[in-house]
Amino acid sequence: MTEPTRVVEMKQIVKRFPGVLANDQVDFDLRRGEIHALLGENGAGKSTLTNILAGLYRADQGEIFVEGQRADIGSPRDAINYGIGMIYQHFMLVPSQTVAENIILGLREPRFRLNLAQAEKRVQELSQQFGLKVDPRAHIWQLSVGEQQRVEILKMLYRGANILILDEPTAVLTPLEARELFATLKSMTAQGRSVIFISHHLDEILEIADRVTVMQKGRVTAAGVSPQGMTKNDLARLMVGREIVFALDKKKMEPGAVVLKIEQARALNDRGLPALRELSLQVRANEILGVAGVAGNGQRELSQVITGLRTLVSGRIYLGAYDLTNKSPGEIHELGVGHIPEDRLGTGLASGLSVLYNLILRRYKQAPIAQGIAINWHTARQVSKNLVETFEIATPTVDTRVGALSGGNTQKVILAREISTRPDLLVAVHPTRGLDVGATEAVQKLLLQQREAGAAVLLISEDLDEILAVSDRVAVLFDGQIIGEMPTAEADIEKIGLMMAGTKT
Ligand SMILES: Nc1ncnc2c1ncn2[C@@H]1O[C@H](COP(=O)(O)OP(=O)(O)O)[C@@H](O)[C@H]1O
Ligand SMILES: [Mg+2]
Repeated sequence: MTEPTRVVEMKQIVKRFPGVLANDQVDFDLRRGEIHALLGENGAGKSTLTNILAGLYRADQGEIFVEGQRADIGSPRDAINYGIGMIYQHFMLVPSQTVAENIILGLREPRFRLNLAQAEKRVQELSQQFGLKVDPRAHIWQLSVGEQQRVEILKMLYRGANILILDEPTAVLTPLEARELFATLKSMTAQGRSVIFISHHLDEILEIADRVTVMQKGRVTAAGVSPQGMTKNDLARLMVGREIVFALDKKKMEPGAVVLKIEQARALNDRGLPALRELSLQVRANEILGVAGVAGNGQRELSQVITGLRTLVSGRIYLGAYDLTNKSPGEIHELGVGHIPEDRLGTGLASGLSVLYNLILRRYKQAPIAQGIAINWHTARQVSKNLVETFEIATPTVDTRVGALSGGNTQKVILAREISTRPDLLVAVHPTRGLDVGATEAVQKLLLQQREAGAAVLLISEDLDEILAVSDRVAVLFDGQIIGEMPTAEADIEKIGLMMAGTKT
């Protein structure tokens, strides 16, 4: 038996950024025909390692071998000459041009028109060969995000890549598009290509990876192990160095009085079209209502009308005995509504300002931080230091800019600020989107703590597993209405799936 051929070997790679050792003597190897997953929490060093291989960064130390030969990769162009192609998270396509035009763009070939016809033919062949459905003559602006990703993959295959790097490719995909991508990756490896697949989703890794390398804080904690026979728990332990609780400890609770009551709410979206159509719902104290549904069915508008960021055309919203209808965001917050918005660095936080400033943003007008019309900075500093400690926010100091923190820590800053004022109602919109398992677990636990402390929680999420794990009741939002509702204990995934597609059952 011969050893499986190594198409890539990275040896003792070191890469420093100001203040961080992003890759600390990393060894990595890729075999022909395999899907090798790189797993690790946000900031572990995965993108850095693959950016080095793709010629975007230069390693400070270490060596790279491609097909057994020492490789000097100084640019993405060098990388593609070695057959290495990277698919970025943010696509770099020209919207006004066609698929085929984008694919040959930048190749500096003469006789563009003639080549275009040939390119279209070749794109067609490649798309059939690997099951990448896309029309070579379609314009980029006409394509969905999933289709644009296929164009990026085709672009690399067209340029002769036989080693493909995909950095968190499923983050932008619907579940169905992710399935199609996995089929494509399998077909590529079956045809002798090799794939490096970056993800922090354990399910995905268990499903498609032949081997997995796990990174933690710049170092490899498991090198090229087979995930066969492993459980999600096994992988999680390798990734975060401790046990992750997948089954959350949800205490049994009797829901209390009605806290949030929405009666026949109607609202328009940004384009002036109906977004909420006489939507009604209730959430009680000690209760989490999970709102499931495909994005774009009124989720954003629902959270906005409750928190005062959007006007209600008709209908009413009550918080206990208070009428919240069309009050300002400030008044609504003072009455006891906390909000974890979907865009953390937009409405959520002032990214250019410090952790301290962001943590006290809601309270600088109240004692003890307010002293008359002045701010007591000493107290403000103490309050924010305590919050950083309680919520385990990993930040160098409270004076660090919020924009410099990782996604998980950014989200913790928002949670700390919104929860520490003890709201009666917490509106959480996609609270764990983009977070790794460790941060997701922390956020979900905090939501459950709010429920136990007596708050009503409205959880809007696209992640059905999350909704089922955390909520007491599930409501399905479709086309601006709640089209069905059930206790989580009686929830049936298939039934919810049908409702998400608009079928009343
Ligand atoms: N261009 C850069 N400049 C400064 N620091 C960076 C840069 N790229 C990555 N880092 C830092 O290096 C570490 C590893 O980041 P990264 O490789 O992006 O991790 P991952 O992809 O696993 O989330 C992080 O602390 C990150 O902040
Ligand atoms: Mg990354």
